[in-house]
Amino acid sequence: MIGRNQIIKGMLKPTVFLVCLLPLAQVLLAVSQNQFANPVEAILQSSGEWALRLLMVTLFVTPLQFWFNWAWIARLRRMLGLFAFFYACLHLLIWLALEQEFSGSAVVAALLEKPFITVGMVVFTGLLPLAVTSNRFAVRKLGRRWKALHQWVYPLTVLALVHLTWQVKGSDLLEPVIYLVVLIGLLVWRFSRVLK
Ligand code: HEM
Repeated sequence: MIGRNQIIKGMLKPTVFLVCLLPLAQVLLAVSQNQFANPVEAILQSSGEWALRLLMVTLFVTPLQFWFNWAWIARLRRMLGLFAFFYACLHLLIWLALEQEFSGSAVVAALLEKPFITVGMVVFTGLLPLAVTSNRFAVRKLGRRWKALHQWVYPLTVLALVHLTWQVKGSDLLEPVIYLVVLIGLLVWRFSRVLK
């Protein structure tokens, strides 16, 4: 007979999968109901925000596992990281297709003229190898180097914050400041554990 714990375990991943899709469903629904004056900007902003938020959530998997003894949460790490990458892909795709109309020269001009775009591209390029190597085969193949590679998620998250902060207008600094404080707290905790 299947026990209650097994049912909960079995439902965990599908539930988190659906929850991770909610931001996309929400913004698409709002767009379909003409709730935004500028729908392209709305999807661009929402996908960027969720890429960053899910990246931060991924960084919390190890601390939560440690603080509350939640061994099960480690099973969600890969999915959360891949969803962060999924939203980053969507963000880039919307920008390329709807803002730059897939024009190579417009993309190069934006990369050269707007430093926050350059930083965004650096973050995306950095996330790419992490996403590609997030499978068991790569873990086995890369051995110790896998961990070293995936430590890059920390500087990349810092750069994603730089990307966000660079283009916020005036008083909207509260959100990046909250992310920054949380991230610094997390980094201090990680380093103190490494030193111990
Ligand atoms: C791939 C290269 C990237 C490009 C070309 C790009 C471009 C942009 C643009 C044009 C905006 C401004 C949206 C607006 O207000 O009109 C933006 C906002 C943002 N991007 Fe990116 N981005 C890139 C990568 C990333 C990545 C990898 C992340 C996170 C992991 C990210 C997170 C954000 C966030 C959080 C915002 C602010 C959204 C808001 O206003 O609330 N971006 N990005």
